[in-house]
Amino acid sequence: MIVSDHPCDSGCLNLSRRDAWYLFGPTEAGPTRAPTDTPTVELPTEPAGGSSMVTVLSPGPGREFAPQDTITFDWYWPTLPEPGQHFAVYLIDGESEYQLGALTEPNNGISYRLVVPGDEIPATGEELNWQVRLESVDGGDVQVASDLVPIVILAAAPTAPPPPPPPSSTDIHPGRLLASNCFQCHGTDGINGTFEGIAGESATELYNELKELQTTTEADEAIMKVHANGYTDEQLRLIADYFSKVPTSVRK
Ligand code: HEC
Repeated sequence: MIVSDHPCDSGCLNLSRRDAWYLFGPTEAGPTRAPTDTPTVELPTEPAGGSSMVTVLSPGPGREFAPQDTITFDWYWPTLPEPGQHFAVYLIDGESEYQLGALTEPNNGISYRLVVPGDEIPATGEELNWQVRLESVDGGDVQVASDLVPIVILAAAPTAPPPPPPPSSTDIHPGRLLASNCFQCHGTDGINGTFEGIAGESATELYNELKELQTTTEADEAIMKVHANGYTDEQLRLIADYFSKVPTSVRK
């Protein structure tokens, strides 16, 4: 989603450009980037009479949007809303209708553009319509309206459970992070360290050694007593399992 394109970033109800637009033309009125996804239409040149319709540029009938999409509503009207009026975009769901936003002046060259993130659309379904109306700001007095344009808003896909990690020998062993605490003395992966290599021993043997080291009274095992007591049994099993699986072709 292009956040900086959101017309409300610069204030949806900002009327300060009203006069400038009349005097200097559309390029003064807002972003000049041409809508690329909108069909080319003949823009009416004369202000339309009270019975005319607002010209809808996009999205066209039947377009489908998912929650992750950004919906850009574009329409054209040759004059500015009077003070106290605005253009409002409505989503109509059977009996209910929701105002998606409103603009008081053209913000996309000479046309009007309202950008709504798909996940902020308050209704989903295939029987929806959207419509833009020029109305009093309180919504009471509708001057003109566009056709009802069919639109499909897809519901958010149910969040799929994360796929189980595939059992693979290239996976990082869950004990490796714990075991890395041993590398400084026993070597990376328990190989070629300052002290005894511990890679490739059986997991049970290593675990039992570590459990014995927890209560050792040997002076030269005092360091290991501290380390062996630094882990829960479950962690020691993981560490032991990790070292038991290190390939030891380069051992010691
Ligand atoms: C600060 C250095 C240091 C760290 C860190 C360390 N050890 Fe030791 N480890 C030693 C010393 C010293 C010995 C005793 C060596 C000896 O008796 O020759 C030892 C002995 C062992 C032994 C007994 C080896 C045998 O075959 O008798 C095992 C098993 C062992 N360490 C596993 C570990 C594990 C697993 C870790 C990490 C959780 C670890 N060590 C962290 C220094 C360390």
